[in-house]
Amino acid sequence: MTAVHVLILGPPGAGKGTQSSRIAERFDVEHVTTGDALRGNKDMDISDMDTEYDTPREYMEAGDLVPDAVVNAIVEEALQSADGYVLDGYPRNMEQADELTDMTDLDVILSLSVSRDELVDRLTGRRVCDDCGTNFHVEFDQPEDDGICDDCGGELIQREDDNEASVNNRLDVFDDNTAPVIDQYRDDEGFVEVDGEQTPDEVWADIEAAVENRT
Ligand code: AP5
Repeated sequence: MTAVHVLILGPPGAGKGTQSSRIAERFDVEHVTTGDALRGNKDMDISDMDTEYDTPREYMEAGDLVPDAVVNAIVEEALQSADGYVLDGYPRNMEQADELTDMTDLDVILSLSVSRDELVDRLTGRRVCDDCGTNFHVEFDQPEDDGICDDCGGELIQREDDNEASVNNRLDVFDDNTAPVIDQYRDDEGFVEVDGEQTPDEVWADIEAAVENRT
């Protein structure tokens, strides 16, 4: 059997990145994440696309969506070279969802649900390792040494879009653009809603069972 194709959906801060890393390791698939891909290419010149801003950076710092053409190209290239994958951060609107349908089939569609108040707390308190990308939280998941990554010793930083204004805009953008995409997937055979307010290990237990069930 070919390796599993997993889509993970949910609002900013729902735990998509945290759980995707576990899925990638446990099921030996690639973690395809538009957020990380865009952060690695923040200053890419997109002025020829006749978009509002000339680089992804401005969209991301404001918490707005980067233009579809940029993101679609990133995902198409990544999926072409991946056998199995967990796709995180895409699709975020109906147009991207239509593109994805043309690109690939999906075995499992996970939707993490978390309340807005909890999301704001998680995102404004998140700290990320500048070297290996591991997530921590100032309250819920503290490192052993303040400001230092437990895994690799790298420096922990705050993402530029994790301030309160950007977070609130990202959550509004999610409600307006991405929530309807999730609703559209609800009738699919592989759709599974997961309570994302449980502890990370409890969320993982539900996800592992859901993916195992479809492989
Ligand atoms: P992206 O990087 O995808 O950010 P996001 O969707 O806003 O999601 P996050 O990474 O913030 O959250 P997450 O769900 O991964 O949660 P995490 O596991 O880190 O996108 C950033 C920007 O890029 C967008 O705003 C947009 O501009 C652009 N972009 C990306 N994709 C695009 C697209 N398709 N189209 C257009 N533009 C696009 O967890 C969060 C925190 O909570 C951590 O501190 C973690 O330790 C903690 N935590 C996790 N799980 C739990 C738990 N169960 N209990 C308690 N704490 C927990």
